[in-house]
Amino acid sequence: MKFFADTADIDAIKELNDLGMVDGVTTNPSIIKKSGRDIIDVTKEICDIVDGPVSAEVTAIDADTMIAEGRKLAKIADNIAVKVPLTWDGLKACKTLSDEGTMVNVTLCFSANQALLAAKAGATFISPFIGRLDDINLDGMELIEDIRTIYDNYMFDTQILAASIRNVNHMKDAALVGADVATAPPSVIQAMAKHVLTDNGLDAFLADIKAADIKIL
Ligand code: E4P
Repeated sequence: MKFFADTADIDAIKELNDLGMVDGVTTNPSIIKKSGRDIIDVTKEICDIVDGPVSAEVTAIDADTMIAEGRKLAKIADNIAVKVPLTWDGLKACKTLSDEGTMVNVTLCFSANQALLAAKAGATFISPFIGRLDDINLDGMELIEDIRTIYDNYMFDTQILAASIRNVNHMKDAALVGADVATAPPSVIQAMAKHVLTDNGLDAFLADIKAADIKIL
């Protein structure tokens, strides 16, 4: 499973990228707002750091303006994936931009039928939002499983990008059910390294290192 960093925090992206833990980046209007920066400037900086796809979201809701915005975003760098919402107009924009050779990430997906439409419109990525479904007591991971089955049934090559990830269990479960990509905040990716038994074991080893004065260097 590929890891995308769901952030516009340049330092966090650099740290993950240096470790080989990031295969791409996703942003959305809320993430750009949090960065406090101009969307074009911050997106360009991210594209210069990361080799993989960098999603930048359109702001319009009508197809023609989404297409115009998508074309402008696509000029930022070769690794831009234009993000469009899963609306009828978003699907039109997806089809046009995909036909032009631009990667498209169709976002705000909350049903398997929506994902089926996005694949037929040529989406490179479909972004089902796990956390927001869980928030309203629905099963976000079941949606990923359903989309996996449908895409495999018909050999769609649209990649399932598990989004709205809130915790490490989402990462494990997304990998188990076969998501192609998971996008997560850097804090969640870092938290995957944590285990209480690792911490306890290390404490015990450190005590013995001190007691026995074990030295290597
Ligand atoms: C990424 O592409 C999505 O926009 C993001 O994961 C949404 O996450 P949220 O539901 O935590 O805002």
